Amino acid sequence: MSIEQLAETALAMVAPGKGIIAIDESNNTIKKRFDGVGIENSEENRRAYRELLLTTPKLGDYISGAILYDETIRQSTKAGVPFTKVMADNGVIPGIKVDKGPFALAGFPGETVTEGLDGLRARLEEYYKLGARFAKWRAVINIGEDIPSGTCIEANAHALARYAALCQEQGLVPMVEPEVLMDGNHDIETCYEVTEVTLRALFDALYQQNVALEGTILKASMVLPGSDSGEKASVDEVAEATLMCLKSAVPAILPGIVFLSGGQSDEDATAHLDAMNRLGPNPWPLSFSYGRAMQSAALQLWSKDLAGNVAKAQETVYARAKDNGLAALGKWKSAA
Ligand code: 13P
Repeated sequence: MSIEQLAETALAMVAPGKGIIAIDESNNTIKKRFDGVGIENSEENRRAYRELLLTTPKLGDYISGAILYDETIRQSTKAGVPFTKVMADNGVIPGIKVDKGPFALAGFPGETVTEGLDGLRARLEEYYKLGARFAKWRAVINIGEDIPSGTCIEANAHALARYAALCQEQGLVPMVEPEVLMDGNHDIETCYEVTEVTLRALFDALYQQNVALEGTILKASMVLPGSDSGEKASVDEVAEATLMCLKSAVPAILPGIVFLSGGQSDEDATAHLDAMNRLGPNPWPLSFSYGRAMQSAALQLWSKDLAGNVAKAQETVYARAKDNGLAALGKWKSAA
């Protein structure tokens, strides 16, 4: 696979006014989301829910790609059409979550390292054959008393870089995600410092593992005060802090940055993205790769009537995609 082909995929992922829908919840995580609205976590409900999301009419207007889970990439619509075909027909690039989740980092209480490197080459080879063209790996950085440690940041950056190199070898664009969690009572400055140090470690590690940045996408968390801090930052403060942090640590050659929503409200996630794009021009396209901030409204509606509310739920998916697509252009408020 040439760097040019990887770069082409990466640019398509952040095409103007488009972003990614993350529907790669593991079976444990989707259980939490389903429990929240009283839906049984059965394989058929997971399949039906993902069918609802992926068959949203005109999804491709504002969505360039969707991140799937291992079970999902093998599933089909009720009528028997593979999800990857539905996506291809709508111009939505299939992506796949390939990490095995965060595990306790031995010797460092309260910290985690993401696992999943063993056997990854063979899994990537299979996912490529199944249609995936990009792959996500999420590292989790916790802020708390005396954490994160340098060891935790280095271990996660190293794993992210090893996974990214393997992805490029197998023809998939790595979407590297070092998520600095919102949880905690830290202030926005602390989040800024931790995010900056994490991104610097990540880009050092990517360089050391010969990862071509032209064929890489960063999935970043925004710079926010901790969710238990009682501090409320304005939309402009978040946008300015996040942009400054990214500009100081992310090489301009990167084709694009997409954000996770991380527990922000739908409105906040969209407003922050919009404000960052209004502050442009920026060195890279800034778009979204939201999970909860793309899906929550639809999941709520669907849970009230699984058979009857599919079309209504899809309307909210489309509306969220449109709002976030406009925010990726800095044109959301004017349209609202
Ligand atoms: P949220 O937008 O719900 O944080 O999920 C995005 C994601 O893929 C986290 O890995």
